[in-house]
Amino acid sequence: MHEQQIAPASSSRRDALRAGAAVTLSGIAGGCATATGILPVVPPAAKVVQDSSQVATTPASPGAVMPQKAEDKPTFVSEARDPVAYSRADNLFWNDVMMEHAQFFQMLMWGPELEAERRQAEDFQRVFADLLRQSGGVSRENHVAFNRRSIDQARRFSDWKKTMEQRQASGRMHSLVFPLFFTHTAREADRFAARLDQYNRGSIELDRREVIDFWTKTMGEHAGFIVQLLDPNELLLIDQARKLEESFLRQGFRDVAGDEVMKAGREILDFKTVGEKGIRNGRIRSVIHPSLASHVRREAVRFIDELRRA
Ligand SMILES: [Fe+2]
Ligand SMILES: [Fe+2]
Repeated sequence: MHEQQIAPASSSRRDALRAGAAVTLSGIAGGCATATGILPVVPPAAKVVQDSSQVATTPASPGAVMPQKAEDKPTFVSEARDPVAYSRADNLFWNDVMMEHAQFFQMLMWGPELEAERRQAEDFQRVFADLLRQSGGVSRENHVAFNRRSIDQARRFSDWKKTMEQRQASGRMHSLVFPLFFTHTAREADRFAARLDQYNRGSIELDRREVIDFWTKTMGEHAGFIVQLLDPNELLLIDQARKLEESFLRQGFRDVAGDEVMKAGREILDFKTVGEKGIRNGRIRSVIHPSLASHVRREAVRFIDELRRA
């Protein structure tokens, strides 16, 4: 059981922050190094208990079903080392991710002037919800054809995200979606399609450098989004998110073969895990929807799983 009590339940929020600052200083004084420089590793402002289900993976067995509610969603991973099992797990995981991207866009594209774009996002949501419903049924007989359907839709969605990115970045569209959020989610769609394409050619191999490149970009950008979406008063968490962003995006990890990347992965997963709980129960102030907090946490679980396999 991976449980961490972040601060005594009886202490006030201010006390928890003060205690956090004290731990931070003693951490530095004690030479306690973390891969990302966030000390302590778990944000002390979140007086929450991290539970094992938030950091666990779930083998994608035949007939697996993705629950509707974000907090109930498992992080599906492949149960065996073959293209069929990988196809089932990736379809379950990524079709859900794609569906959620479409939901986030709808939340952030509001008002009558964005009605057409919202409808398009709604259509993508339906397409991926439909694929997701069938993903547990991926089998030896149907996996190549099913993967092809997912690849086509993921590429179509990626193109749409890239078009939206250009419109938002050039000032032709004024939604609440950051241009980088379109770029980020398009990259995830491209990665999903590329992996399925690989399975259809009979290979499941993970290239460790590619895994690190894709996921460190992904984790770093998540941290950057979190910085922008936290309440400006959440100074400690903003500082920790900035350090994570810096580590993943700019500092890089030279220790590709060692455990430095894994350590950093666990640190951002811890940060997101307590963050999700704190956001859900109102202990962390932000404009981060709990389903987005859950989404980025599940992607961190996936990152660690792939790193272990690569
Ligand atoms: Fe995502
Ligand atoms: Fe992401």
